[in-house]
Amino acid sequence: MKRRDNPYTPGAGRKPPYLAGRDGELEQFSSLLEVVASGGAERSTIYYGLRGVGKTVLLMELDILASEAGWTTTDVQEVGSKPDFRSTFAQMASRLLREMSRRHRISARVERALSVVKAFSLLTPGGVQLKLDVRPASGIADSGDPEQDLVELLREIGETARSAGSGALFLIDEMHNLDSLSLGAVCMAFQAVSRDRLPVALVGSGLPDLRARLLLAKPYADRLFEYRSLGRLSDVEARVALVKPAANLGVSYTEEAVAAVVRQAAGYPYFIQEYGREIWNAAEVSPITLAEVEEVSDIVREQLARTFYGTRFEMANDAEQRYLAAMASLGQAPYKTGEVARAWGANDQRKTSPHRDSLIQKGLIWAPERGKVDFTVPLFADFVTEHHPLKLFEEEE
Ligand SMILES: Nc1ncnc2c1ncn2[C@@H]1O[C@H](COP(=O)(O)OP(=O)(O)OP(=O)(O)O)[C@@H](O)[C@H]1O
Ligand SMILES: [Mg+2]
Repeated sequence: MKRRDNPYTPGAGRKPPYLAGRDGELEQFSSLLEVVASGGAERSTIYYGLRGVGKTVLLMELDILASEAGWTTTDVQEVGSKPDFRSTFAQMASRLLREMSRRHRISARVERALSVVKAFSLLTPGGVQLKLDVRPASGIADSGDPEQDLVELLREIGETARSAGSGALFLIDEMHNLDSLSLGAVCMAFQAVSRDRLPVALVGSGLPDLRARLLLAKPYADRLFEYRSLGRLSDVEARVALVKPAANLGVSYTEEAVAAVVRQAAGYPYFIQEYGREIWNAAEVSPITLAEVEEVSDIVREQLARTFYGTRFEMANDAEQRYLAAMASLGQAPYKTGEVARAWGANDQRKTSPHRDSLIQKGLIWAPERGKVDFTVPLFADFVTEHHPLKLFEEEE
């Protein structure tokens, strides 16, 4: 098969040729838009899931749906690990308003709203100043209290959107990176616009602990958002994800070949794309058979070990790598932190908790419940056991 025709899209945030298994999400989102646009109350959505399950590409798809429904969006915005929450929101707000102005010819109203954005952004501590050619408003969104100011900023956007007969959608990716203060402000602001029935909605996404982080920031966060988990595709969905992009180009797979890929990719969208790409490049004729799948399996596994897993493992320092190895050595996830500490070689759990915290901070592990940890990367335990088993760390001593 010609490489240049290869339809598969392994990577991060690369729109797949066919978005498998997400029809329910798209429908739920369309109804959210409808309800909110008509002044009804509907909870905004928070997606959570492991690395590579397709959070970013789903947000990209929702962005398109919203635009088609006449909404204005921030585009998918990734928030950083050292966020300056004020400048992030100021940038999203000014993008929304400019877009509204362009689409709806309400420049005077937008200008007023932009002056509120300006006032909001001026308080950013040493952060990037937005180039906004307006005078800052005074008395709105400039109190210095992040919660109060974000509430006022979002209200201003909501009112502007309403006067344009449109809606404003915030799309925030990697939302677990926001600190507790920022998450608290986000909760408060979205609660306020929802109470006022303003046409503003949020779709946030992040690692599985995003929900717990939101709850810690504001206890009512549980009722404020609709939480939806994104996970593996079912066997049927995984099949379609593999077969359909090829079928569109007149290429088919034998039944055995499909079954083998579905098994090896374990339902993870990113893995399906990796297998698909390699198989396509290796295959010469249609249908693609089990022989081709077997031919590339080792290549794909090595590639994943080097890139997807290896680069992440290298983000951890020696003691943290040993912590990862200790986790993997325990077998069944989630892992009790006390047991991990013992496997690590510490007689006191306090000795390993800085490593655990740092790994959580780096987004490599998360705490599904108190006193337990798990990996954020699918099948990471298998990789660690194979390439960095605990005994190698013990031998080094
Ligand atoms: N529903 C799907 N059907 C087919 N392929 C998909 C689907 N969702 C995602 N993919 C593919 O999976 C890969 C990962 O997608 P994406 O970057 O959106 O994951 P993610 O959850 O945002 O990962 P991370 O947590 O690392 O940011 C991409 O190669 C994308 O093309
Ligand atoms: Mg992503």
